[in-house]
Amino acid sequence: MHNIETPDPLFSRVSLLREIGPYIQRHRNKIFVIAFAGEVVEQPTFRRIIQDIAIIASLDVRVVLIHGTRPQIDSRIIEDGGQPLFHNGLRITDKDALLAVKEACGYLRVKIENLLTTALHQPQINNAALDVISGNFLSAKPIGVHDGIDYKYTGQVRKVNIESIKEQLSHENVVLISPIGYSPTGESYNLGYEQTAIATATALKANKLIFITHEPIPMPIPNAMTRQEAEELGEQMPLLKLIAKAVNQDIERVHLIESMTDGGLLLELYTREGIGSMISNESVEKIRPALLEDISGILELIRPLEQEGILVRRSREQLELEIGNFHIVEVDRQIVGCAALYQTDDLTISELSCVAVHPQYRANYRGDRLVNYMEQLAIKQGKQKLLVLTTQTSDWFKERGFDEKSIDDLPENKKRLYNYKRNSRVLIKPLKQKSVSSAL
Ligand SMILES: CC(C)(COP(=O)(O)OP(=O)(O)OC[C@H]1O[C@@H](n2cnc3c(N)ncnc32)[C@H](O)[C@@H]1OP(=O)(O)O)[C@@H](O)C(=O)NCCC(=O)NCCS
Repeated sequence: MHNIETPDPLFSRVSLLREIGPYIQRHRNKIFVIAFAGEVVEQPTFRRIIQDIAIIASLDVRVVLIHGTRPQIDSRIIEDGGQPLFHNGLRITDKDALLAVKEACGYLRVKIENLLTTALHQPQINNAALDVISGNFLSAKPIGVHDGIDYKYTGQVRKVNIESIKEQLSHENVVLISPIGYSPTGESYNLGYEQTAIATATALKANKLIFITHEPIPMPIPNAMTRQEAEELGEQMPLLKLIAKAVNQDIERVHLIESMTDGGLLLELYTREGIGSMISNESVEKIRPALLEDISGILELIRPLEQEGILVRRSREQLELEIGNFHIVEVDRQIVGCAALYQTDDLTISELSCVAVHPQYRANYRGDRLVNYMEQLAIKQGKQKLLVLTTQTSDWFKERGFDEKSIDDLPENKKRLYNYKRNSRVLIKPLKQKSVSSAL
């Protein structure tokens, strides 16, 4: 039923700019910890990823980078005639392996610093203040012996030097952290980059933790997940298990992006739909009562539909008066849907009106969920029937249990105000009592 038109390329660019603007504002001065596996550094897309990180830093995001080292350590051990040792997926770092760890960290640090320095000083970024700083920001302790296995120099983060990192961030520097930590007794410990990233993001109370992974994200992983969903999908991708744990701690949101997606980082952070998966400790999509401050967002959503004659025009003043009747669908704090319930003269009938879902968010049953929600709300208010007046969407409502009726079936006030010029169809649905709490 959609009106399929060839998109105007200029308009597409303009609407993309409009979409990006609010995200630039929102992310300014926020701390993002971006972590990537050692494998990602060796991929052809890595240079682009670094360029995108430089762009993000130039947009006033405070960036902390954490890199992995696994394949680089493995190849050094093998080159020296050794064999990488693992137990339960965790490296056993003996003295020789520790040497490989130090070499790998040194090599990767120089490589990343080099690429990032070039990217940060490109003419188009043009911010002389930006630099990359690496340092000794972590102290570590050994993992110890588990199930009789001594992990030797494999460690875990003991403390993150938050003050030093924040000091560097306040000078607009990108902070680069390698997964190696030192103990007060002078030992070095090999750390997992995932745990390092989680510990660092938690200590810094980072606004976002982003993992760029070389592993293909198994489908069908939804682009927005709750902690529980990530936990369940952890069997398919162990990183998700760690992410679920991280989200349970102090980190609000964790993003997972495939390294082979060109521009994945920018798309995920600066567009509404994103490209990867976002895991948060709360549902990122919700239906809630509308507030006065939602009026501009609602108007933006419904104006094009009013212009097409699909919805009846409402002035801003009218919307202010009637805001208590509205509910909105919110995705990542953006209004992507709305609906309103109005009382009628007939105490058993409510009118459902102004049902709309933003075109970019359709085809995902949001309309169904919204109408279901409003039905449950009407039931909660003691109503037995739901009325809709529609000019162009009657089939959609009929498919959802509404029956076509006549003007005579309208409650008195609706009959009096019926607009014969608009000639809307009258649709009524008998409401069935369900468990309200589960629907709401
Ligand atoms: C009706 C609406 C809320 C549904 O949103 P949604 O659930 O997110 O998803 P879609 O728009 O993709 O619609 C889902 C299905 O309904 C169909 N549909 C959409 N509009 C329709 C219409 N006017 N008449 C009949 N079917 C329609 C779609 O083709 C799609 O069918 P498909 O799954 O077979 O492809 C949304 O299309 C919308 O906002 N429309 C404009 C506003 C409107 O008409 N509101 C009602 C005014 S009273």
